[in-house]
Amino acid sequence: MTGTAASAMDGMYRHQRYIYDVTRRYYLLGRDQLIDDLDPPVAGTVLEIGCGTARNLLRAAHLYPAAQFYGIDVSAEMLKTARAAIGRSPARDDIVIAQADATAFSAAELFGVNKFDRIFISYALSMIPPWEAVIDRALLQLGPRGELHIVDFGTMVRMPGPARSAMRAWLARFSVTPRLELENVIREMAERHGRTHAFSQSRFGYSASARIGPKLA
Ligand SMILES: C[S@@+](CC[C@H](N)C(=O)[O-])C[C@H]1O[C@@H](n2cnc3c(N)ncnc32)[C@H](O)[C@@H]1O
Repeated sequence: MTGTAASAMDGMYRHQRYIYDVTRRYYLLGRDQLIDDLDPPVAGTVLEIGCGTARNLLRAAHLYPAAQFYGIDVSAEMLKTARAAIGRSPARDDIVIAQADATAFSAAELFGVNKFDRIFISYALSMIPPWEAVIDRALLQLGPRGELHIVDFGTMVRMPGPARSAMRAWLARFSVTPRLELENVIREMAERHGRTHAFSQSRFGYSASARIGPKLA
């Protein structure tokens, strides 16, 4: 466990976690589309990296009741909220979460799962300084036919300059840094792991979606 990352995120979310889901619904855009696109196989395994309050896991478990869901997050504070929410849900037996650092986790050790059918990362890469390592680690734990889905802030390049600067400054107050190199890194990682890939941004570049797909034949 990277103690610094854990204490930084605990500091960020100790109080925020109580209002997180209500406030983030207005600006963490594209999360529901990612969940709709997951479409795991029947009885498939799905992992969210940086699962926060488990908002996404609960929604996905409702949509795909035959799949088994797992989540990791470095923040013990966020996981308190996640555990409470999962405990109140009818899907509680289908969701298992654990505290772990996304840059160094082993799903085999945490959950006894070697390879996942789907892994997703929603608005977490922009908060993890060694974010490229997270993608690499995820791909090592993805099955050959599996898919990695990512949504996060985009480059914002098509926003007017002052709006872009104001947005980036506001995000920085929450330790969020849009990953301007995401598209290039997705391409490089897909090539390194011999997989297909896709990348797109929303209209003004507010959010970015990426997918690394099955291994090439
Ligand atoms: C903006 S929240 C997103 C939560 C959730 N994925 C969502 O879409 O609502 C980012 C999450 O990433 C977690 N996180 C940050 N650094 C991490 C790390 N190194 N390893 C695992 N999780 C981390 C934070 O604790 C936080 O819960």
